Amino acid sequence: MAKKLFVKTYGCQMNVYDSERMLGVMAAEGYEATDRAEEADLILLNTCHIREKAAEKVYSELGRLKPLKEARPDLKIGVAGCVAQAEGEEILRRQPAVDFAVGPQAYHRLPALVAKGGVDTEFPLEDKFLKMPAAPRRRAPTAFLTVQEGCDKFCAFCVVPYTRGAEVSRPAARLLGEARALAEQGVREITLLGQNVNAYHGEGPEGGDWSLARLLRELAGIEGIERLRYTTSHPNDMSDDLIAAHGELEKLMPYLHLPVQSGSDRVLKAMNRRHRADDYLRLIERIRAARPDIALSGDFIVGFPGETEAEFADTLALAEAVGYGSAFTFKYSSRPGTPAAGAGEQVPEAVKDERLARLNAVIWRDQKAFQQSMVGRRLPVLVEKAGRMEGQMVGKSPWLHAVHFQAAPETAGQVVEVDVVESGPNSLSGRLAA
Ligand code: 5AD
Ligand code: SF4
Repeated sequence: MAKKLFVKTYGCQMNVYDSERMLGVMAAEGYEATDRAEEADLILLNTCHIREKAAEKVYSELGRLKPLKEARPDLKIGVAGCVAQAEGEEILRRQPAVDFAVGPQAYHRLPALVAKGGVDTEFPLEDKFLKMPAAPRRRAPTAFLTVQEGCDKFCAFCVVPYTRGAEVSRPAARLLGEARALAEQGVREITLLGQNVNAYHGEGPEGGDWSLARLLRELAGIEGIERLRYTTSHPNDMSDDLIAAHGELEKLMPYLHLPVQSGSDRVLKAMNRRHRADDYLRLIERIRAARPDIALSGDFIVGFPGETEAEFADTLALAEAVGYGSAFTFKYSSRPGTPAAGAGEQVPEAVKDERLARLNAVIWRDQKAFQQSMVGRRLPVLVEKAGRMEGQMVGKSPWLHAVHFQAAPETAGQVVEVDVVESGPNSLSGRLAA
């Protein structure tokens, strides 16, 4: 009988992609996936270290898993991902039920760790994905594809340069091959992933580097791939050719995640973001000129060390000025080893809470208005799966709104036209156009 593997994924989309690839690695070792930890022979937590809360979740989950291990000592428990990279040995000390810890750049060596236990947080020079069997066949019409990993930007608050390492782009030919294979499996939408995805500069098939724009142009030529997205980007890497691609490539969806973090020039400088608020606003103008219907999304941090009320007001003003289609907002969380951790005066938790609520009010208002503006429009929807109600299907609009409507199950994987009738709390609903 096949052994069973239970994977629980925390954090970003890159972890989601990595988990799929780890399933591929372990499938080649005779493991099959289960969604029940109780019946697993191997449990893997793929973890996130970005904020303190994310990292602490891992230890409480391990505490819950401990009795399973006590009942069945042959059960193996491993910690993968960014907590494994950042804390390594410490995890095994803090929770003895853990057999091994594996950092994001060592996943191709997973079978050895499962067999022997221990810690592997090396940063090898080779492309780990080259040494990993393909992920299990996709059943969904959407897929992630990691094209770039790591980060050389060193924003003062961020652990990523330490947990994921230096910026590395995967060769273009390999990515085109993986994208074609996904298309053959029925995938219609690919989201290119990278911590700094628009800094992509992978080796081209005939030597010379390809930019992200070049890669997108080639991917758009693959038959079967109908939609392309990419995330997450740094404003300073929005090159002219990438902006132009938004105007030229019909398959490139009109939705861009472009984090700004703060609207205050003083805070941006202290964060080491290397641009001013106004640079960002002018960049958005250029992107909107290339693709007028584009929706913007972003990330914000409130309560960065030393942030004053006036500086926070600049962040509110920037959010108002952009008018985001959606955005993610976070309270600053001090991360050990990052430059901001020891610097400046920490903003009291209550002040962070209050600022977060005020920023969310602006973001949520705009998000709701944007979603509401879809009512009465006919939208192309990529059908993903059956909805919760009888006869219902659910898919995504070009702007990532979930859209519910009545349709045959066979529409899954197709792009259909839907007349939007209503905007609910988290999704749109409508009628399949005749
Ligand atoms: N505290 C709070 N938010 C953070 N982020 C990254 N590091 C921190 C931190 N130390 C946020 C940023 C980033 C997103 C992925 O997480 O907004 O864009
Ligand atoms: Fe979290 Fe960053 Fe690691 Fe993704 S790369 S899991 S966001 S710490």
